Amino acid sequence: MCGIVGYIGAQQAAPLLLEGLARLEHRGYDSAGVAVLGTGLKTSKRAGRVRDLGEQLPKRFTGRAGIGHTRWATHGPANDVNAHPHTDGKGEVAIVHNGIFDNASALRARLADDGVDLVSDTDSEVLAHLVARSEAPTLEGKVADALSAIEGTYGVAVLHADFPGRIVVARNGSPLIIGVGEKEMHVASDLAALVRYTTTVAHLEDGEMATVTATGFTTFRQDLSTTDRRATTLDIDPAAYEAGVHESFMRKEILEQPDSARAMLRGRLDERFGSAHLGGLNLDARELRAIRRVKILGCGSAYYVGEMGASLIEELARVPADAEPASEFRYRNPIIEPDTLYVAVSQSGETVDTLLAVQEVRRKGGRVVGLVNVVGSAIARECDGGIYLHAGPEVAVASTKALTNMFLGFALVALQLGRVRDLSIADGRRLIGGLERLPAQIGEVLAVEEELREVAHRLAAAESLFFVGRVRGFPVAREGAQKFKEVSYRHAEAYPTSELKHGPLALIEESVPTVAVVPDDELTDRNVAALHEIAARRGPLVVVTHPGVDLGDVAATRIDVPRNERELDPILLTIPLQLLAYHAAEHLGLDIDKPRNLAKSVTVE
Ligand code: AGP
Repeated sequence: MCGIVGYIGAQQAAPLLLEGLARLEHRGYDSAGVAVLGTGLKTSKRAGRVRDLGEQLPKRFTGRAGIGHTRWATHGPANDVNAHPHTDGKGEVAIVHNGIFDNASALRARLADDGVDLVSDTDSEVLAHLVARSEAPTLEGKVADALSAIEGTYGVAVLHADFPGRIVVARNGSPLIIGVGEKEMHVASDLAALVRYTTTVAHLEDGEMATVTATGFTTFRQDLSTTDRRATTLDIDPAAYEAGVHESFMRKEILEQPDSARAMLRGRLDERFGSAHLGGLNLDARELRAIRRVKILGCGSAYYVGEMGASLIEELARVPADAEPASEFRYRNPIIEPDTLYVAVSQSGETVDTLLAVQEVRRKGGRVVGLVNVVGSAIARECDGGIYLHAGPEVAVASTKALTNMFLGFALVALQLGRVRDLSIADGRRLIGGLERLPAQIGEVLAVEEELREVAHRLAAAESLFFVGRVRGFPVAREGAQKFKEVSYRHAEAYPTSELKHGPLALIEESVPTVAVVPDDELTDRNVAALHEIAARRGPLVVVTHPGVDLGDVAATRIDVPRNERELDPILLTIPLQLLAYHAAEHLGLDIDKPRNLAKSVTVE
């Protein structure tokens, strides 16, 4: 969704701002803009790509301080006027804003009554006018004044022609990071925009503001009392944010999975007791034992992997568990039970629906732990405890390696919950053996990429597809369909295999392929019977299965994945579906890392 960048130092700001914005493109956006402060304040913005913005910048778009933005339309369509930065009437103040001002209509009406000419449809524009109208003597005071009138969420950056040599930034619910360089400073809403320049950063807290100059930064609250935020140097490899030799981030991230899975498991397997070390959950054995139910909350793919996690927890710990879309949760006035463990799962840690679900649980006194990839993100901070996914930065909109690590996270939680109940030490060790084999087995699936490429090209020719599976296999089918539609724009629908004959079988014909998940388990025979029903209607079949599973005389393209312990099979069955989606999209010539209409982090409702 929207992205913010800022620069102040000895260099010309515009090229650095454009570079930073290009690195935020994966978050999803529909327009972009920059403002620089040199001799006067200059602004340039437009609907379309960052590249288009770069081409329209005039030659003398100079200034050594600047702010930039990629916009995801919420208030008003994606057009040049609604793009950020927004300015006041005199063009002396420029602002960029992520988040939503909830009382924007009232503020717009009040400003209009005072004779202010609002030129855009956005909520954000009010901030520029409020800053310009403040009578506070300093820029910090003006921005604080303006923000005190605003209700809602924001990450903002502000330039003012009368206060050269500084950018004022503020955060409330939308990330804002300050990057410390050599006699220059950077601002961004996402580390991806600044790791190329520095890994020494300070994350603002909600309610905090900062003045950023070329030589440093100071932080303070909205009442202008100072805070003591320090920059820390992060142990991150800037190369992790580059696609490098890979043609896309999605393919790079798919291929990274053996390594990222190892990173997730490192130090967390307890061979001796057949359990898991998860100190971050902040739950001792007695508290784990008192848990009567587990409720998993996530959105999109995080919800589907949550369904896989719920099965794992029920199977290993025999505790009732289910997953629910976090986006729906708080709207049904959920009953929060003291002996339920709530688990929020999110790659970005920024998904607002998941964050609000966590807040709903906590407001009602429930206990929430997080499975989150981005360290220090809003969801991670809001939870009572949790485990980080250690997948490394995931840039492609379509989640792959983070999703795999979410599954592993659930396996670890299930092991620990199981071992304080009835899961035997032998079964615990059996699962640990399975987890240890998984990274190499993921590598084995990736090694047959060439075969999958050809299958994907055939699937890409279909306008509509089914993905089917049963019990453990159904969330795999849901995630497979999600990935396929996300990047290939083909209609892909997931169904429990057992439900086909209750309706959707009517759609099966030669032009509608089905990707069926058929693990070697207690349901294999029933699954194969359903394949016959599809084949009898001339529906083309791709079957993701285990070596040796007898598909009878069904005509099907077969994809075999290595066997692991049955409980852990879902993740291995998911990997080929990632590659099918990727190669279908590549074959169709689509922008794989930035699918249309989608954002990496969905930070608005
Ligand atoms: C995954 O491929 C999707 N891009 C999407 O469904 C995603 O999983 C969802 O928006 C949740 O994101 P999060 O994990 O960052 O919370």
